[in-house]
Amino acid sequence: MKDFKDKVAFITGGASGAGLGQAKVFSEAGCKIVIADIRQDHLDEAKAYFKEKNVDIHTIKLDITDRKAYAAAADEVEKVFGGPPQLLFNTAGVNTFGPAEASTYEDFDWVMGVCLGGVVNGMITFVPRMIKSGRPGYIATTSSLGGFMGGATTAPYSAAKAAVNNLMESYSQALRPYNIGVSVLCPGNIKSNIAEAVYTRPKNLENTGYNVNEKTINFLRNIHAQGIDPIELAQILKKAIEDEQLYVLPFPNAEDMLRNIFDRVIDNCSPEGKIRQQEKMKKMMEEMAKNAPKDNPYQNSEDVGFAQARQDLGWVKPFRMPGAPPPPPKD
Ligand SMILES: NC(=O)c1ccc[n+]([C@@H]2O[C@H](COP(=O)([O-])OP(=O)(O)OC[C@H]3O[C@@H](n4cnc5c(N)ncnc54)[C@H](O)[C@@H]3O)[C@@H](O)[C@H]2O)c1
Repeated sequence: MKDFKDKVAFITGGASGAGLGQAKVFSEAGCKIVIADIRQDHLDEAKAYFKEKNVDIHTIKLDITDRKAYAAAADEVEKVFGGPPQLLFNTAGVNTFGPAEASTYEDFDWVMGVCLGGVVNGMITFVPRMIKSGRPGYIATTSSLGGFMGGATTAPYSAAKAAVNNLMESYSQALRPYNIGVSVLCPGNIKSNIAEAVYTRPKNLENTGYNVNEKTINFLRNIHAQGIDPIELAQILKKAIEDEQLYVLPFPNAEDMLRNIFDRVIDNCSPEGKIRQQEKMKKMMEEMAKNAPKDNPYQNSEDVGFAQARQDLGWVKPFRMPGAPPPPPKD
């Protein structure tokens, strides 16, 4: 899709971070914008911002895990704009960190419910409506680099994002005959408010196995402050949509990183590959140990309690980054 003029773009999580960047870039390209977000304060701020810029903006308070509410939001868009959106951005997502072995059902239900379930709900709600409208369309889903690999403290998130990558491949093939393109954006770190995601965690899913408090939230805020600017990210996505590119990998050295990730699987196909992989891993661990104290943004994570288990789970070993220096001796 190359022409965005007067097209309606429905953006979940569009009131903050990556989604807000998309709303800004695509409104500048001529889109009418619908922002659907769970946070009313974010919606109010975004609405005021776009009204001032004379953007045709409509906001909807929506929890994307609520299927009935999602269908009602789609009806509302059709009523306001006379049809379904031509662009769907599945951008809303949440995160929380802690050792996989400490995870509760609720950790999985919340993170996978929003990051995977919310995307599924977006597709089931809008794809038939977009097809029936007979117009060309585009779906851009924000996944993560984390979808290409697991992590000791990111299990629900990594699993959800891996599923999202795969899901978008399926839809990109299925929707080609309808002239609906699909992209999956897989960023590394984004300058956003995702450290605050835990504020939107529903009461019925609050039972977590992870240590989460204002200190750990602040620690995460500082990490995300160093991420890519959402406008720059949305501009990269816009170019990818223009080029109908499925995977969008907006970070430096993406090629080397992905080659390393996929080699871990491919090297298992042969005895030589297994040896190559063992040597590579050994070298990587040595490199990490060498660089850990000065280059590792997680170096103080244990002091802060970030990505650790809930304190009463005494059977969980403290999480330490591979290559991190040994803990100071206890008195
Ligand atoms: N921040 C990062 O470093 C990073 C890296 C890779 C991928 N991502 C992905 O980028 C996407 C956007 O996140 P962000 O970093 O801009 O965070 P953000 O918190 O700034 O924005 C996400 C928005 O989604 C909304 N949201 C959360 N749960 C919702 C729900 N159930 N229903 C509707 N809206 C909901 C939030 O209120 C927020 O406004 C997410 O899918 C995230 O997983 C983020």
